[in-house]
Amino acid sequence: MPRKAPRRPGRQRARSRVIKPAVRNGRAELSAVPDTFYRDLVWNLRNGIVAVTRDGSVAVMNEAAYSILGLKPRPDDIGRPFLEILKEVPDVCRIIAGAFDLSHLPNRAELRLKRTAKVIGYTLSHVCDAQGELAGATLFFKDLTRVEQLEERERLRDRLAALGEMAAAIAHEVKNPLAGIEVMAGILKRQMPESEDAQTILGDIIKEAKMANAIVIEVLDFVRPIRLQVEQIALAEVVDDAVSTAESHASRGDVKISLALPGDLPRLQGDTHQLRQLFTNLLVNAFEALGGSGDVQISASAVAEEESGPGIDNAGPMIQVTVSDSGPGIPAEVIDRIFSPFFTTKPQGSGLGLAIVRKIVDAHDGRIDVGARPGGGTMFRVTLPVRTEHELFR
Ligand SMILES: Nc1ncnc2c1ncn2[C@@H]1O[C@H](COP(=O)(O)OP(=O)(O)OP(=O)(O)O)[C@@H](O)[C@H]1O
Ligand SMILES: [Mg+2]
Repeated sequence: MPRKAPRRPGRQRARSRVIKPAVRNGRAELSAVPDTFYRDLVWNLRNGIVAVTRDGSVAVMNEAAYSILGLKPRPDDIGRPFLEILKEVPDVCRIIAGAFDLSHLPNRAELRLKRTAKVIGYTLSHVCDAQGELAGATLFFKDLTRVEQLEERERLRDRLAALGEMAAAIAHEVKNPLAGIEVMAGILKRQMPESEDAQTILGDIIKEAKMANAIVIEVLDFVRPIRLQVEQIALAEVVDDAVSTAESHASRGDVKISLALPGDLPRLQGDTHQLRQLFTNLLVNAFEALGGSGDVQISASAVAEEESGPGIDNAGPMIQVTVSDSGPGIPAEVIDRIFSPFFTTKPQGSGLGLAIVRKIVDAHDGRIDVGARPGGGTMFRVTLPVRTEHELFR
């Protein structure tokens, strides 16, 4: 279905005026193209553009600019002061305001927008008239959030690869002595049946050696690259299984679970086992955060394309699943670290639960975000592409 163009501010009725060929001060004004074409061109660019005149009024602002900055187009935006139109994005106002004072303008600079936490890459240019007088300034920008996420994912993969080599080497060195300790303690235990103290101590040694071995196996398992066994899966089944598995791993107590998984969700192409593990880990964390009372909500919806807006290349049908709990929430000072391997705030935690979640999401080319649940608690949002057969064989 053709996409309906959103209403653009200050758009005039299409005119069929044809600009006559002319050359003014060495500038070509050669065009047999109606001027509405230029307006449409700017409006439809996949990068954001905001141009202001010397007196500080907005002259041009296109759809991508509104979308990346998280603003809504209003019919009378064009011609109004940019400080007013862009007041919700003061960081952008500062850049544009600075454009008139600078002789060397930044090219390819980056900025993290405080309001939306998006990263933009931008270029500032002066607009000079035919006499060379400064007539305005233009901010040209692109949403780099996705690029940043991909880079972060690459960095994580590199880190895991390095960690994997190290873990494999350590496992190799540690596994044999650990097995030796366990076997020898077992022999001693059998040789000293009459000493109660020796039985207790040797029993503890065997238990600790087994635990150390389990940690080595867990780490090895984590650093091993995931090979997806891709099949068509129904999300509702995966989530149901994850609920049962989570209940066997952590105590659910009186926690109420509500599921909102529409029956008409498209089937996903993914790895059942890995996705079950993903939701199990999120649910185990939720149960642990709730300590036996409260509620967990799991809901899913199909999204037509990644909502990150224009400028995003791998748009396509997605399924978004949110897992939220009414627990204490995650303190702001640790939220950046929760996906890092071995980060834990729990005495018995290994800190691998969410690192595994992130690894599984990455392997499926998905995305995971975390935030506060409105009204209190934690909300994880997993966005997974509904991949087509064709894409799988790329
Ligand atoms: N739903 C949640 N509510 C509050 N805090 C959470 C929640 N989920 C994760 N966290 C925080 O993130 C940290 C990391 O979670 P992660 O699952 O990676 O490790 P863990 O649960 O501590 O240990 P493991 O999962 O390996 O047993 C937790 O220790 C906890 O502080
Ligand atoms: Mg966990």
